[in-house]
Amino acid sequence: MSEPLQLDQVSISLPARLLIPALSVRVMPGEVLTLMGPSGSGKSTLLSFLGGTLPGGFRAAGRVWIGRREVSALPAERRQIGILFQDDLLFPHLTVGENLAFGLSTAVRGRAARAARISAALEEAGLAGLAPRDPATLSGGQRSRVALLRLLLAEPRVLLLDEPFNKLDAALREDFRRFVFAHAAAAGVPVLMVTHDVADAAAARGRVLTLGQSADGSARIETADGGLCDAHRTEESPGRVDAVVVVDRRQ
Ligand SMILES: Nc1ncnc2c1ncn2[C@@H]1O[C@H](COP(=O)(O)OP(=O)(O)OP(=O)(O)O)[C@@H](O)[C@H]1O
Ligand SMILES: [Mg+2]
Repeated sequence: MSEPLQLDQVSISLPARLLIPALSVRVMPGEVLTLMGPSGSGKSTLLSFLGGTLPGGFRAAGRVWIGRREVSALPAERRQIGILFQDDLLFPHLTVGENLAFGLSTAVRGRAARAARISAALEEAGLAGLAPRDPATLSGGQRSRVALLRLLLAEPRVLLLDEPFNKLDAALREDFRRFVFAHAAAAGVPVLMVTHDVADAAAARGRVLTLGQSADGSARIETADGGLCDAHRTEESPGRVDAVVVVDRRQ
C-alpha cells in the first residue's frame, strides 16, 4: 500500500546547537525529496531520527507518520522504514546472494522463487552472476549497489538514502539512480535522499530541502522549479525561522 511520509514539527538539537528547526513536510508515494546542506548540518541525523536510530546526545521532538500510522513511538524494526547510511556494510560472513536473501521479504516463499527474485534484482542492477561472491571481492560501487538492493528487497514503506550513489562513477551513477527512482515510483514509496551532488537532485525531479543555509542556520526549502518555499516565523521569536513548512503549490 502506498502512503505518504509526513513529518510534523520535527526538531533536533545538540546541547549547544539547533540542527533542525520545527520541520513539517510531506513526501508523497513515489516522490523523491532531496535533502542537501553543508557537512555537519544534520542530514544524516534527520535520517537517524526518522529511522528510529537517533544516537543519545541529541534532543528531538515532533511526530512522524506513514499514512495514518504514527511511527515516531515505534522501535526501528517496526517502522518499515528502509534506511541506507553513508557507510552501510554488507555482512562479511555471507555471500552477496545471502546478503540479499537476508533483505528479501518473507512474503516471497520457496527456495527457487527466492533465488530467482535475487538473480533478477542483481541483473537489473548490472550485477548479474555475483550472487556466490564474497562481498570483500566486490568494488566499492558494486558493494553499494548490493547494499541498496538488499534494502529494496525488504519492500520498505519509506526509503531513506544517505548519499547512496557516492561510490559510483558518473555513467554508473546515472544508470543506477534511474533504477532506484523507477523502483521507488513503481512501488509507490516516498523517498528522502541525502546528496551533495546537484545532478542527483536534478535527476530526482522533486523538491529540495536545504539544511543550515539561512542566516540563522535553520532549514530552507526550494523546489526544482524554484521559489516554492514557506518559512514560518513565530510571534515569540520573530527574528528566527522556527518552523519550516514545505508547500508545493504546483498541485
Ligand atoms: N552521535 C553523535 N553525538 C553527538 N554529536 C553528533 C553525533 N553524530 C553526529 N554529531 C554531530 O551532529 C552534527 C550533524 O551531523 P550529521 O552527521 O547529521 O551531518 P551531515 O549533514 O550528515 O554531514 P555530512 O554531509 O558530512 O554527512 C555534526 O555537528 C556532528 O558532529
Ligand atoms: Mg551525513
